[in-house]
Amino acid sequence: MSYAIIGFGNIGKALAKAFARSGIEVSVATTRDPESFAAAAAAIGKTIIPKTLAEAVKADTVFLAVRFESLPNVAKALPTWQGKTIVDVSNAYGLPPEDLGGQPSSRFVAQAFGGAKLVKGFNHLVAATLDQDPAVHGGRRVVFLASDDDVAVAEIGTLAEKLGFAPIKLGGLSEGGLLVQARGKSWGQLIFKDLVKFD
Ligand SMILES: NC(=O)c1ccc[n+]([C@@H]2O[C@H](COP(=O)([O-])OP(=O)(O)OC[C@H]3O[C@@H](n4cnc5c(N)ncnc54)[C@H](OP(=O)(O)O)[C@@H]3O)[C@@H](O)[C@H]2O)c1
Repeated sequence: MSYAIIGFGNIGKALAKAFARSGIEVSVATTRDPESFAAAAAAIGKTIIPKTLAEAVKADTVFLAVRFESLPNVAKALPTWQGKTIVDVSNAYGLPPEDLGGQPSSRFVAQAFGGAKLVKGFNHLVAATLDQDPAVHGGRRVVFLASDDDVAVAEIGTLAEKLGFAPIKLGGLSEGGLLVQARGKSWGQLIFKDLVKFD
């Protein structure tokens, strides 16, 4: 299984730190030449591999850590996303719901990334919290996952565990997924809730 994070800002770097902590290789890409952020990637860890966007999207599993409005440009990087798993970490805060056809934001993203299996997740925490070691007070920081694809959500749940988090599956994008999405200028009820699971 190969992994990529598209976007290397606040959230992309926080995710990259989790991969580095766990020793799992992940490509990172932005719109820029990978050399321009190679030092920042190396500072996080040796498993963080800077690539061009075109190279990074070859990964099996692709985290979308760009601003919502940049997603259509990322989607253009491949003619089809068939066979890939996308993890949508974006929040569509402030966008009029009519611009998304009134649908949950991740359904809109799923349409843009035609053919992909989409999991919404890792998006409910502020970057400064996601950035930290998820081992907290003897427990593990919770990440919420929502998807209409049971296989994809199981796969990302396993990855979340490897990254040290405690994944909680919320069900489909139009069901539990609504608890972790932004709609217009309101936030789902689980957004920003920093929870820790004790096994
Ligand atoms: N910040 C938070 O606390 C937080 C919390 C939860 C979820 N989120 C969500 O996470 C996403 C990222 O937020 P952020 O705060 O990390 O944003 P950010 O700091 O502005 O980073 C965005 C990154 O995306 C890259 N990018 C922009 N357009 C791109 C494109 N077309 N292709 C590839 N890379 C592109 C940018 O790099 P270049 O411009 O150099 O290409 C930059 O590295 C947003 O959707 C946000 O809603 C953020």
